[in-house]
Amino acid sequence: LVAAFPSTPQLLLTLLSPLLTFLLTCSMIPRITPYFLKARMFGLDLGKKGTSTESVQVPEAAGLVAGTVFLLFLLAVSASQPPSLPLISSLFSILFMMFLGFTDDVLDWPWRYKLVLPLLGCIPVCSCYSGSTSILLPSPVRHIVYASPLSSPLQALLEFVGVVLDPTSPHGLVDLNWLYFVYISLLSIFTTNAINIYAGINGLEVGQVVIATLFVILHSLIEISAGSLSTANHVFSLALALPFLGVLLALLRFNWYPARVFVGDTFCYFAGMTLSVLGIHGHYSKTLLLFLLPQLANFLYSIPQLAKIVPCPRHRLPKFNAKTGLMSPSEYAPGKSNLTLINLTLRICGPMREDTLCAVLMGVQALGCMLGMFVRYGGGARIFFEE
Ligand code: UD1
Ligand code: MG
Repeated sequence: LVAAFPSTPQLLLTLLSPLLTFLLTCSMIPRITPYFLKARMFGLDLGKKGTSTESVQVPEAAGLVAGTVFLLFLLAVSASQPPSLPLISSLFSILFMMFLGFTDDVLDWPWRYKLVLPLLGCIPVCSCYSGSTSILLPSPVRHIVYASPLSSPLQALLEFVGVVLDPTSPHGLVDLNWLYFVYISLLSIFTTNAINIYAGINGLEVGQVVIATLFVILHSLIEISAGSLSTANHVFSLALALPFLGVLLALLRFNWYPARVFVGDTFCYFAGMTLSVLGIHGHYSKTLLLFLLPQLANFLYSIPQLAKIVPCPRHRLPKFNAKTGLMSPSEYAPGKSNLTLINLTLRICGPMREDTLCAVLMGVQALGCMLGMFVRYGGGARIFFEE
């Protein structure tokens, strides 16, 4: 690890960064959120109804404080180093996305607008991207492209849209060309929205990102210690992921049950774009997706409601029973639960307290990430990337 970093001060700064950003975010949140209440930027804590006649008003969009601390830290890092295009474009994309998230908290965009906002946010990263646009085809896909009855029409189609195929490449590399940027855009749409719709109970928005980020950090440490060819990319990834973890933990402290702040869409978009940027500049976007399996499952499971095939109420979060103090699945019609992983968990495990439910879902996230690690390093890698 020491040898991988360009200088010792940079290594020390990176290692200390989670502590620094944690302390700074912890001290800023209570100072700043009263101004949110004053400006009437609050959300009603829907999971506490029944404890009083009125639901509690909780300052919303504390993600703005966390995001600002994170970006300030990165600005200080970038000022202390020679100019770095990946770092500056990442900063720009995260900042832009955080701003768009804040507009969502203020203006409450309809779902179809939310879906396309990340396309704007990822423009800086796309336009400054100078790495390879090639990807490794998983073996089953490679087989379909090169050795199946579908091969010739498929190859012709891929070449027509600008993909450069190389059957002789020992690793099944294909150059996606401009389609690589379509892929980056789709990745950003996924990370931001998937976090935003896996939400509604205290602590879950931040908790899921904390677990995924811990695995991102572990993955980069493994790659660096194994002397991976992309060590420099993983050093970059650590330099962002560690200070990110600090602000996340501070935010979780205030957002944990009973929430003193809500993180808002500002947070979901800021955090989703940060993960995307890590995957893109760290060159591990497919591994990143493996750490977001619960988000992928929740997204796929939600499709009937997102596509309005079945009704989708404004809020799908579980409902609170004031008598028992427990949460149970919410319904879009009598006997029909809203299609979220949160409600599914409640259906399988039975009613739960809000904080227990959040802890269980964070456990599910950790299990999903471990499965992702297995696919990346264990038997999965052989199945997917080798003959
Ligand atoms: C997404 C979900 C919606 C879910 C909402 C909750 C989809 C398509 N949309 O919408 O189903 O209800 O997130 O975040 O799946 N809230 C709580 N407790 C919490 C967190 C949030 O009561 O721990 C409530 C508060 O009233 C808060 C509001 O949710 O003000 C925030 O909702 P918002 O982020 O605006 O909803 P969406 O992201 O549009
Ligand atoms: Mg939201």
